[in-house]
Amino acid sequence: MTQRDTAAKKGGTAHGASKGARILVVEDDAAHRAMLKTILGSWGHAVLTVEDGDEAVAMVRDQAFDVVLSDVRMARVDGIHALEEILNYNPALPVVLMTAYSSVDTAVKALRLGAADYLVKPLDFDALKETLKRVMAQAGVGIGDSGLRRRLGEALSSEDGEAGGMLGRSPAMCSVLDTIRTVAPTEATVLITGESGTGKELAARALHGQSGRARKSMVTVNCAALAESLLESELFGHEKGAFTGADKRRDGRFVQADGGTLFLDEIGEMPLPLQAKLLRALQQGEVQRVGSDVPVTVDVRVIAATNRDLARESSEGRFRQDLFFRLNVINIEMPPLRARPEDIPLLAMRFLGRFAEKNRKAVRGFTPRAMDALIRYPWPGNVRELENAVERAVILAAGEMIDLAQLPAAVEASSVPPDDETKPAEDKAGALGLNGLTLDRVERLAIEETLRETEGNKSAAARRLGITRATLHSKLKKYDIE
Ligand SMILES: Nc1ncnc2c1ncn2[C@@H]1O[C@H](COP(=O)(O)OP(=O)(O)O)[C@@H](O)[C@H]1O
Ligand SMILES: [Mg+2]
Repeated sequence: MTQRDTAAKKGGTAHGASKGARILVVEDDAAHRAMLKTILGSWGHAVLTVEDGDEAVAMVRDQAFDVVLSDVRMARVDGIHALEEILNYNPALPVVLMTAYSSVDTAVKALRLGAADYLVKPLDFDALKETLKRVMAQAGVGIGDSGLRRRLGEALSSEDGEAGGMLGRSPAMCSVLDTIRTVAPTEATVLITGESGTGKELAARALHGQSGRARKSMVTVNCAALAESLLESELFGHEKGAFTGADKRRDGRFVQADGGTLFLDEIGEMPLPLQAKLLRALQQGEVQRVGSDVPVTVDVRVIAATNRDLARESSEGRFRQDLFFRLNVINIEMPPLRARPEDIPLLAMRFLGRFAEKNRKAVRGFTPRAMDALIRYPWPGNVRELENAVERAVILAAGEMIDLAQLPAAVEASSVPPDDETKPAEDKAGALGLNGLTLDRVERLAIEETLRETEGNKSAAARRLGITRATLHSKLKKYDIE
């Protein structure tokens, strides 16, 4: 038996539970909405209702849910459109559609778009209960799920795609990938800026990989890692005896990168005197070994990266302005991850696949709650922090799906906890099992619930229930509701 089977038998994991789940009901018909709230509440779930697809999308962005139950045909934004938007936000969230028409077309379309399942109206309560249970037991997005690739873009399918393994589907990343494609084949010097962990080095590799220099190597120098004198000899090489310890002549990184690309990482940390020597090398296409005055011609394309604001650094005298202009022929600004949450599911799935394989673990996806927390967390350490969090989660995971508990505490805390409004309606219907639910009782509960919502206002309740005041009065009499 797999871990997941065990969890399902026990009534589910903490959040994939078939009892006590958070359910979003999307339904424009007031009576049907009230009925669903009552029934689902009686089964121990916390239920939130909205009237339309656009409200559903806003709600899903605002709070975490375990499952969405949505009508297909609604007045404003329809369920199919809402389904697409919801899955675009969180591909792990199961969406069950309800259709009033046993239209095969709509159902097929919904399933193709990634709906977890569909139900035909009028709802059969047994089928509703079974479907919810099954959908939640299997909830989460997993590698190999049909529809996942379509939703997350082609990028997920190829480990070393054209962009050199660089993933992104947000407009900001699409524009970065576009710039890389355009600039890569040229000889232009590129300055890549952005916070730590945003993918600057990966972008440099993509630039090199898509250039005519790809068959030669990309040589990397981290300008923050070495003291000034060592950095100079690292870059330009040295003659034998140029300084103590220089027991033989050595080529610098410039010469090693001849015909290829030199990646100067953390260029903002380079000491000012060395900046002057670098500028000269770039302008003249030649370098001098430390301890030699014979110039060596090199054919090198330079890509530099920094997490500093070099324009400001240069206006404040900490970076040479002429070198800044020389490097900044093309600027690629890597957007922070918090500015492009659409990329998170894509990156998280890629990292999960990689680390599951590396650690030989049968982890294949994320629960809706875990994915929701990943999307909400602001990731100050950007993609690198996400990568580390997923690696840790894969190592800690006991089952097939990564849940909130395996995420770092700060990430887990970004999940929005249930509010009071959605606490299960146990008081009124907790004791009511499925078998005891006749249509009359459901109608009675729906009326009671609606009256509570309207604070006893009968006209408003009738309107919400979609019945006349007269009908409401006769029902109140029938059910003996004061
Ligand atoms: N768009 C992306 N797609 C896939 N992996 C990425 C992406 N951006 C960053 N990474 C990964 O995140 C980590 C940090 O990226 P890196 O290029 O070293 O960032 P930086 O140089 O800006 O600090 C690396 O493991 C890198 O492979
Ligand atoms: Mg880096």
